[in-house]
Order: sequence, then C-alpha cells, then structure tokens
Amino acid sequence: MNKFYITTPIYYVNDKPHIGHTYTTVVVDVLARWHKIQKDQVFFLTGTDEHGAKIAAAAAAVGKSEKEFVDEKTQSFKDVWQKLNIEYNNFLRTTDPAHIAAVQTAIQHLKDKGLIYKGQYEGLYCQGCEQYKTSDDLIDGKCPEHQIEPQSMKEESYFFKLSQFEKQLKEKIESDELEIKPTERKNEALSFINKGLKDISISRANVSWGVPLPFDKNYTLYVWLDAFLNYLTGLGWKGGAGNAPKFFPPDIQLMSKDILRVHATIWPALLLALELPLPKKIFVHGYFTVQGQKMSKSLGNVIWPEDLVGKFGIDGSRYLLMSLLAYGQDGDISWEKLTEKYNADLANGLGNLVSRVSKLNENLKVKNKKLELRIKNLEGLFDEFKFKEILDEIWQQIAWANKYIEEKKLWELVKTDPKEGKKVLENLISLISGIGEVISPFLPETSEKIIEILKTGQGQPLFPRI
Ligand code: MSP
Repeated sequence: MNKFYITTPIYYVNDKPHIGHTYTTVVVDVLARWHKIQKDQVFFLTGTDEHGAKIAAAAAAVGKSEKEFVDEKTQSFKDVWQKLNIEYNNFLRTTDPAHIAAVQTAIQHLKDKGLIYKGQYEGLYCQGCEQYKTSDDLIDGKCPEHQIEPQSMKEESYFFKLSQFEKQLKEKIESDELEIKPTERKNEALSFINKGLKDISISRANVSWGVPLPFDKNYTLYVWLDAFLNYLTGLGWKGGAGNAPKFFPPDIQLMSKDILRVHATIWPALLLALELPLPKKIFVHGYFTVQGQKMSKSLGNVIWPEDLVGKFGIDGSRYLLMSLLAYGQDGDISWEKLTEKYNADLANGLGNLVSRVSKLNENLKVKNKKLELRIKNLEGLFDEFKFKEILDEIWQQIAWANKYIEEKKLWELVKTDPKEGKKVLENLISLISGIGEVISPFLPETSEKIIEILKTGQGQPLFPRI
C-alpha cells in the first residue's frame, strides 16, 4: 500500500476564507479522495496560520484579543470546509500548544547546530505577505500583491543561515528530487535561487503575538518558520531532528504562486537543517481574479464560499471550482459565468440526463449493468493536475448521451419498440453508472445519489435550474 501525504497551505486568519482558499482546499480534497479510491493510505492536512503582525493588527482593528479573534476566524474556516464536504485528516492550528512546543524544540536544535546567529537586520518587509522584499520585487515602490509600500525594518535580529543551503536547494530542484510544477514555476524558483540566497531574519522584537524564541524571550519567531513546521507537527512531530513522523515527507503540496518562493527556499532549507526528507512535489496553481481584478474586500468583489454553496449547492460549487482554472493558469470568474456554467453542465447536462433516463425507465425497469467509464490516461491526468481536462472528458460523454436520447427519440421508442428502447436504456444506464463512479472524487454526494437513483428509480432532481 502506498502512502499519500498531501497538504494545503495553512491559511492566515486575518479574515474568513474566500474562494481562493476554497479552491486550493477543494483541489486537495479531490486528490485525497482519488488516492483513497486507488487504495492509497492517505493523510490530508490543512489548518490555520494564526500568529504574526498581520493577525495581531486584524484583531486590534476590531477590538478583540488575539486569542478570541483567531478562535472565531479559525472556526469560520472549519465551518466552510464542512459545508464543502472536505475530508481532511487533521486541522492544525499554529496556536496549538503541542505545535508551539515542537517548534521551540526544533528552533533550539538549529541554534545548537550553529545555524542561527545574531546580527542586524535592515531591509524592506511587506506585512501583507509577511515576507521580505527587495526593491526588485516592487512596482512603483509598492508590493504588487498588496498595493502597499513595504515597511523598512531595522532591528537587532537572529538570522537563519539560509545561504548555506543554496547549492543543495538548487541541485534538488533542478534534478526534480523536489519537483516543482508547472515547469515555469520551477524555473521561477531556480532563477530566484540563482540570484543568491541571503541569510534571513527569523526573529521579531516588536511582535508579541508569536512563538517566543526558546533561547531569547525578548523575541518571537518569524511567522513563516512557525508556519512551515505545521507540515510536520500536523503529523504529531515533536520537534526532533532526523525524526520524520509517519507519512512524512509530503507527496504533494498545493499552493498558489504568492508563496512559492518561500516554499522553494526556506521550507526545504529548514528540512535539510533538521535532517528530514524534502517534499516530493509542489504544485502551483493559478489565481482567481474577479472581472479582471484581484479579489479584495475594498473593491467589494470577493466571492465568499458560503454564497457559492448557498447558490449552487455543495457539489455544484465543487464542480464549478474544479472546472474553472486550466492547468497552472489564472482564471477570471463572475457570478454570471458561474451561473451559466452551472445551468449548462449541471442542470441541463448531468442533472437532466439522470432525470430523463430514470423517468423513462420507470416502466421498463432495466437493470444497471456495471460499466467502467474509460477515460484515457485518467491516472496520468490526475498526476498531472489536469482536472479541467478530466471533467471536460466526462462532460463530453454526458453531452453525447443527451444527444443520443434526442436522436433515438427515446421517449417514443420505449412505447413504439420496447425491445429496442430497452437496449438503448441499458446503454444509457450503464454509462450513467460509469459516470457516477468516475465523478466521485469531484462530486462525492452526487455520485452516491446517482447510484441510489439507478437502484431505486427514485430521487430528487440533482441540480435544480437557476
Ligand atoms: N499563511 C500563509 C501560508 C503558510 S503555509 C506554511 C499564507 N496564507 S494565505 O491565507 O494567504 O493563503 C495563501 C494561499 O491561499 C495561496 O497560496 C492559495 O493556495 C490560496 N489563495 C489565496 N488567494 C487566491 C486566489 N485569488 N486564487 C487562488 N488561490 C489563492 O500565505
């Protein structure tokens, strides 16, 4: 039996989840379900990144204590994942005392190994990204992600010897020992590393909302180091170097381009420093934009997952998310486009097919002969993250079946030539049962409903028209 360990980033809880977080999490859920069907031993980890200046500021802005604020926001992530039928194995919070203790043990170890030293930090920092910036990263003096000018920071600080790992990281990424997909993203990571990796400041003198450095309580740990170790503590790791927990390393880590750079440098360097194996693969998906613009609260164009589920249902939402972004590409969404696709593919497509066929079968009661829907290279498509291609392929079959009903005038045929009608129905029912199975990682509830409808001949419409 193969093990399969897959992760989402742990999300910042400065706000409730939006459609971007939802997308990553649904993709991971689909992959986890697919691997379970393949009989792999799956561990799916997600969670929340709860420390740092950004979160502290968000709590202060609404007059709440940090603790009260992060508890509330974390709950909103859990609620949304439940609404979307996300089957994670663990939800790691960085405020969990066991996580904090393990992080401190690990950081102490790095200090003992001589990989952490004290110095003076001077440079630019974007609090929105919680990342260091160089003037090369800025457009018109602003962080392009957050449209804000980074702060200039000057303080005494502890540094992690990231530069020491430059050569090793380069080799491991080049050779695909740590595989970064798509290739453009691999090249982007390599070109960043090739510019030279500097040691990074890993302590904060003025951020109290964080993990205290075990060897100097005047400082808290830079939030990204705290965050990265979640991928280990989420498996019960206690901070021991060379002590990989069961399921480690990750087989796939999903994220978007905003956090690739740190995942291709600081994260694997930490693992090398802790004598632990590197993730096998990082997949970087595209960005959702809304009507050409970045989603943001101030623009008022954020699409919230609750609204999505309210309108399209659980599986409707999962389907729309999974079919929107082409491999590694950005994609633009709008309520109009989502509604159009829902009606075309789900209400008129799959929903209509299942309801027509089950109705026509009310009298004839043709039994379901099992058919496995053959999708060419399905495994390969999953391995290559070609979700849209998989769905397109399945939906071509659905379109074909709906056309077949029209061409055969099946509603007449079952009366005029019941024998021939039965044969056509038999084909359709087998096809639908094959579709019911193959969609199950994407649309788990619908998959069950279809199997039920085929068995009993009864059921509610799958996707009411909007
Ligand atoms: N807390 C860090 C990650 C630490 S992991 C050790 C963080 N959090 S975040 O809340 O900002 O989440 C970023 C991730 O959310 C992206 O990498 C992506 O997975 C998802 N998305 C957020 N906005 C997105 C879009 N607009 N489009 C698609 N996904 C994006 O970074």
